[in-house]
Amino acid sequence: MPDRYHHRPVLLDATLSLLELGPGDDVVDGTVGGAGHAGAILERTAPNGRLVGLDVDDEALEESGRTLRPYGERARLVRSSYRRLNEVLEELGMTRVDAILLDLGVSSRHLDAPERGFRFADASAGETPLDMRMDRRLPATAADLLARASAEQLQSWFSEYGELPGSRTLARAITEARRQTPLRTTSDLLAVIQAAGIGRGRKHHPGTLVFQALRIAVNDELGALKEGIEHSIEALAPGGRLAVIAYHSLEDRIVKNAFRDAVRGCLCPPRQPVCTCGKTPRLELVTKKPVGPDEEETRSNPRARSARLRVARRREAA
Ligand SMILES: C[S@@+](CC[C@H](N)C(=O)[O-])C[C@H]1O[C@@H](n2cnc3c(N)ncnc32)[C@H](O)[C@@H]1O
Repeated sequence: MPDRYHHRPVLLDATLSLLELGPGDDVVDGTVGGAGHAGAILERTAPNGRLVGLDVDDEALEESGRTLRPYGERARLVRSSYRRLNEVLEELGMTRVDAILLDLGVSSRHLDAPERGFRFADASAGETPLDMRMDRRLPATAADLLARASAEQLQSWFSEYGELPGSRTLARAITEARRQTPLRTTSDLLAVIQAAGIGRGRKHHPGTLVFQALRIAVNDELGALKEGIEHSIEALAPGGRLAVIAYHSLEDRIVKNAFRDAVRGCLCPPRQPVCTCGKTPRLELVTKKPVGPDEEETRSNPRARSARLRVARRREAA
């Protein structure tokens, strides 16, 4: 069986050093996955630092549970979205933490498991269900969205979440095709993409953008990210650090803008003479520009290629 889990975590050294972890720190890994980052964090915060690991995926939590067993009570794992980080910490009686990591998106485990429906360029595409839920408790799969969404809704997902040229054409082609027969497998969807002429003559497989858009819609990834960053900022102790690793420009833009707003504080229009929003600066940037992988990591881990790490520090109370 291929080793699905033991990949080197993306941007591990940069993340650990920019989080400035030390013995006794309390840390949240909001996307614990296979616990590659989490294990390294627990080493840095030994002997008594605690780690709360969140994930929405049951299989990821089984795996991280096994990996983190040697750390005993120092590691707590919770099946939850990081968008509910505040509630989880409250239930655990932890009000403020020293560092938070969000390593976004799907894991290689998801991509390597055809039955989860995240991959399309595969000989098994005819059997691969259009699922794409990271949290299998979610009520709607990608196939459900494709069956129910209006052409307008589909178009807006493809153009906003996939930045796909031909979004309107594809949305219409899908609503036409599903009148004949439901789209159930990745090859059903690929056939519609191809027949609609989407991506013809382009370098990248057109499925890449379509699948990205559907995955984001199924998991409400961008909504979760906005809420997750906000709760993370609030959960940091003064001087505590938040690190976010993004894998595409839509995610990175949200991180960049959320950090910028929290650095600036007041969000009133620049010409307004008196502040009415009452917001004060909460963060300082640790990375002025996003940190990417070096050549060696790019070569050895294709998934790291598009990674962008941003880190910010919670200001001392004003
Ligand atoms: C890139 S992987 C993390 C890999 C991890 N850092 C490691 O070292 O193994 C992202 C993980 O985040 C999880 N995830 C995605 N969205 C989430 C959310 N909103 N809340 C919690 N976990 C989420 C996925 O299920 C996946 O396991």
